[in-house]
Amino acid sequence: MKAAAVYPDKKSLGVVADFPEPKIGAPAQIKFRVLNVGVCGTDREIASFVYGTPPEGSDYLVIGHECLGEVVEAGAEAGSIKPGDLVIPMVRRPCHHPECVACQVGRSDFCYTGDYRERGIMKMHGFMTELVVDEARYMNVVPAAIREVGVLVEPLTIAEKALIQTLNVQQRLPWGRTKYRHRAVVLGAGPVGLLGAMALAVRDFDVTVYSRDREPNSSADIVKAIGGRYISSQDRTIEQMAGDVGSIDLIYEATGASQLAFDVLRVLGTNGIFILTGVPGRHGPIQFDTDTIMRNLVLKNQCVLGTVNAGKDAFEQAVTDLAAFYARWPRAVKGLITGRFPLEEFAQPIHNQTGIKNIIEI
Ligand code: BGC
Ligand code: ZN
Repeated sequence: MKAAAVYPDKKSLGVVADFPEPKIGAPAQIKFRVLNVGVCGTDREIASFVYGTPPEGSDYLVIGHECLGEVVEAGAEAGSIKPGDLVIPMVRRPCHHPECVACQVGRSDFCYTGDYRERGIMKMHGFMTELVVDEARYMNVVPAAIREVGVLVEPLTIAEKALIQTLNVQQRLPWGRTKYRHRAVVLGAGPVGLLGAMALAVRDFDVTVYSRDREPNSSADIVKAIGGRYISSQDRTIEQMAGDVGSIDLIYEATGASQLAFDVLRVLGTNGIFILTGVPGRHGPIQFDTDTIMRNLVLKNQCVLGTVNAGKDAFEQAVTDLAAFYARWPRAVKGLITGRFPLEEFAQPIHNQTGIKNIIEI
């Protein structure tokens, strides 16, 4: 079989021609045919050799963790999953330390030890290949109606996990007891930002996306199609943007730019929550007005929350939500996928990021 791989030692990318075809080795496993794999910033980091670790004994890592597959074979103990089902595999696998209470209870997205593995990222091959065997319990079945856009489920789980936690934290407030529409600002108009904006819009938040590019651009069109407001940082300063929006209840950061994030933290409203999802590169230190930030955090009851990866609950909610987005805004959701490449050309969208979401079609 073919597989798209990164060779960290040789610092190169290549298609493995004879990647061994996997076989079901335990009754709780399933085998699926890979249909689509999304390319994201994490893949780009792995392909620039700053992140990512091959499985033990391998000199390469098969990449790809945003996957949509079709089940071709199911073991006797694979539960209700059957051939023909469309599935989204989860990315992270638990560590094996008995003291890690998170991994012990199936919440490796909250792993304490850092010894988890991630398919296509950390010590496990990923999904940019033809056939995959995995355990049925990590699969999430998606309805055939969202086949075309199903590959967006995994990037959407980032927002879903963030929202599950946000609604928990904000139980501290009298939210949801009045007709007041909460105001959300999304930083960044890439796939994570736009999917986050959709997740907020279906929950009836007043959504503003603040991003660099001026209009017209296709991300701004998508924001408007879902009823949101688009503001370019080239036209409006952070303070002006905050003035346009009004008191900001929630900021969802999806850029990975730490300077921008902490600058925008200044304008978070009273009782607001600031969610960080981006992973910045390590640049030099920068200066911040920490007195203002700390005064606001305390005097305005604010909360800052970082979040990574996602559990089963977020995957299930992402499947439900993506179907809802697709029913409500079919063109906008389809418009998120802007490039399709064959496996042989997987390096192209990695080296040359254009459009919104690029995918590999197997
Ligand atoms: C993936 C997460 C993963 C994270 C860090 C992201 O791109 O979506 O599942 O935990 O990278 O490796
Ligand atoms: Zn753990």
